Amino acid sequence: MEQAKEDKVVVRGLEGVVAGETRISHVDGANGQLYYDGYNLDELAGRTSFAETIYLMWYGKLPTPAELRSLRSRLVAEMRLPTQIVTMIQLTPPGAHPMCVLRTIVSALGMFDPDVEDMSDEANERKALRLTAQVPTIIADLHRVRTGQPLLSPDPKLGFAANFLYMFRGATPDAVEEKAFDLTLMLHADHGMNASTFAGRVTVSTLADLHSGLTSALGTLKGPLHGGANERVMEMLMDIEHPDVVESYIQGMLENKQRVMGFGHRVYKTEDPRARHLRGMSKQLCERAKVPHLYEISERIERIVKERKGIYPNVDFYSATVQHALRIPKEYFTTIFAAARTPGWLAHMREQLADNRLIRPTSRYTGRYDLKWVPPEQRT
Ligand SMILES: CC(C)(COP(=O)(O)OP(=O)(O)OC[C@H]1O[C@@H](n2cnc3c(N)ncnc32)[C@H](O)[C@@H]1OP(=O)(O)O)[C@@H](O)C(=O)NCCC(=O)NCCS
Repeated sequence: MEQAKEDKVVVRGLEGVVAGETRISHVDGANGQLYYDGYNLDELAGRTSFAETIYLMWYGKLPTPAELRSLRSRLVAEMRLPTQIVTMIQLTPPGAHPMCVLRTIVSALGMFDPDVEDMSDEANERKALRLTAQVPTIIADLHRVRTGQPLLSPDPKLGFAANFLYMFRGATPDAVEEKAFDLTLMLHADHGMNASTFAGRVTVSTLADLHSGLTSALGTLKGPLHGGANERVMEMLMDIEHPDVVESYIQGMLENKQRVMGFGHRVYKTEDPRARHLRGMSKQLCERAKVPHLYEISERIERIVKERKGIYPNVDFYSATVQHALRIPKEYFTTIFAAARTPGWLAHMREQLADNRLIRPTSRYTGRYDLKWVPPEQRT
């Protein structure tokens, strides 16, 4: 039987496809602007903390001081992990990538959360709060376990971001470090319908629980074309070693058609505004941490890639040196991105559930039809 030829149009990589509506954030790629629920990032960056940004994404307005205090203390109070989860972290193989551990432990947390199967909005709000608070603790505990240091409990006197850094490194961050880390988290909090956000929304559109959605999002962020790029940026900077060899190194990469990690973006056709904020922070922190050459190397790479390829740094480029200067080992960079994006992912998943329709696209079939089954001994 002759089959009708499929005339469906395939949009490779779903570029430009509008897959849903959201009020949470908007990437204006043509003008290089990012909006968090109505506010231009430039209006908020440096003024609005990560916790305030979480409040904005979840409740649609900036919090009053009392609302912010309440959110902060609820987040810090939820940072503890069940003992069995801590044991699981201790049992993970030392060579496993931290993103692999984080994805697995978030999935495992679903077995311990009393609300996991309750998909009411109230229960999902409680889970969103808990998961946002628990993800940093998983990352901090993993690092402490691997470096043979005691695990730390959150300090109720510190804010959410400061607690994260304190539990990870074991020393209370000074004011500059706290501000830089908080801003780094705030700049990564949400970013429209990116690959991991879409993955999380697809998962919960089947009415699977939030832990499943977050696990999907984490698995998607891990790839080097998405959140995994920041770690690769640091590897490249370490490999380059000295500003004088940037020119030949990058030229060699471009000639070999290699991608320079931390550059290019599906939506931004001009500068990523997050990179602009991170660049300033990178300069300040690299000087403070006595690694100014890393900033200098980064700046030179940016100039050359812009000149030769016409592409700009994305969020992953300068966040690498910022995190390095904050004494975060490179294998944790993507997990820090994940912790920052967790409240954004959860906001999207709850938004999806508030007006849900199963996300189920179709495909163009390129296979054959009506082949006849052949017994194994007659196959060639
Ligand atoms: C982010 C990214 C995946 C977007 O990909 P995309 O929208 O599918 O864009 P394409 O892969 O179609 O690239 C378009 C062109 O730009 C080039 N390009 C894009 N990013 C590049 C990079 N980082 N280095 C060198 N060239 C790059 C491609 O080679 C291609 O050039 P061509 O048309 O001459 O072949 C891509 O820019 C990339 O791989 N960047 C590096 C990884 C990274 O930093 N990811 C973090 C994103 S926040």
